[in-house]
Amino acid sequence: MFSLTQKMEKSWDNEFQELVKALPKEDGWIGSHLYFYQGFWCPALVLKSFISFQKNFQAFASDVILATFPKCGTTWLKALAYITLYRSHFARNENPLLSSSPHQLVRFLEYDLYLNNPFPDLQNACAYEPRLFATHVPYVSLPTSITDSNSKIVYICRNPLDMFISLWLFSTKLRDNNLRPLSPDEAFDKFYHGIYAFGPFFEHVLGYWKASRENPNKILFLKYEDLMEDTNSHLKNLAMFLGVPFTEDEEKQGVVPEIVKMCSFENLKELEVNKKGLHASGIPNADFFRKGEVGDWSNHLTPSMVERLEKLIQEKLNNSGLTFKLSCKTSRIFHPSE
Ligand code: A3P
Repeated sequence: MFSLTQKMEKSWDNEFQELVKALPKEDGWIGSHLYFYQGFWCPALVLKSFISFQKNFQAFASDVILATFPKCGTTWLKALAYITLYRSHFARNENPLLSSSPHQLVRFLEYDLYLNNPFPDLQNACAYEPRLFATHVPYVSLPTSITDSNSKIVYICRNPLDMFISLWLFSTKLRDNNLRPLSPDEAFDKFYHGIYAFGPFFEHVLGYWKASRENPNKILFLKYEDLMEDTNSHLKNLAMFLGVPFTEDEEKQGVVPEIVKMCSFENLKELEVNKKGLHASGIPNADFFRKGEVGDWSNHLTPSMVERLEKLIQEKLNNSGLTFKLSCKTSRIFHPSE
């Protein structure tokens, strides 16, 4: 993955190098660079493809875009949305998740389709209609053909403490072997200051949160913790939002719990297809599955890190109406006004 990023930076033409020169730049978590573009830290690997996507993508009114913050449940949402949206196209015993990873089924726009091609063949990128794509791009930077059309967006995020741990352990695996590992304190410092792929987290999350409140029929806003607590109900809502509600017959036949089970962490992690192979961005498929729990941060963060993050959450989410559950077992809800 790191060498792929290096190759990408070397392949930039003069015109692009000029544009990049003007952008603030920081060392990223895996050893390559992050560039500050339109208010967010964009990994070098996808800076060019992000811009191509932004300039060239033409949304259809029927498109569904899964927009997510990295390490917040993208893989899970891709699996749930794909199977729900297209369930009429395949027999129950021929589930595509058995032979393809969620990332092959729902392709990223910037991390996959536009990665090496400013005009990818989007017609053949999706097996069925309506088209279903994924992105980590912040709301403010989405192509206007997405924000201004009737296309739908499903967004998922997660409490920032778990997101930080997930990101740190994920990056540790992908970090260039020639570099010394990023210490917990260094990673925390970068995290605290919003310096990571598509950070700052709060601005990303609030962008979609505010847009979803203004237009709930266009943007469905989900949280990992809620999905974990009651996947069945959230799946039914998702199906309704996507315009493919479960019928009474399907409910009687147990289709909802069947999809939930199929897409569960425990099931997906053990499938052969998710244990081997690489994603188009060079990331091993297996690295998208780690622990799949709410509250794992308590096994990693020091009390002072927790205190600083709680203060940061309070400051950033104050008056937004957005709250995060920090743990499922005790159902502790963090209200920014606490
Ligand atoms: P952890 O590192 O906390 O285990 P993303 O898909 O956005 O990269 O997010 C990865 C996180 O989602 C990881 O969290 C991963 O283990 C978890 N995850 C992956 N598939 C999942 C699933 N089917 N259900 C629940 N969590 C899942």
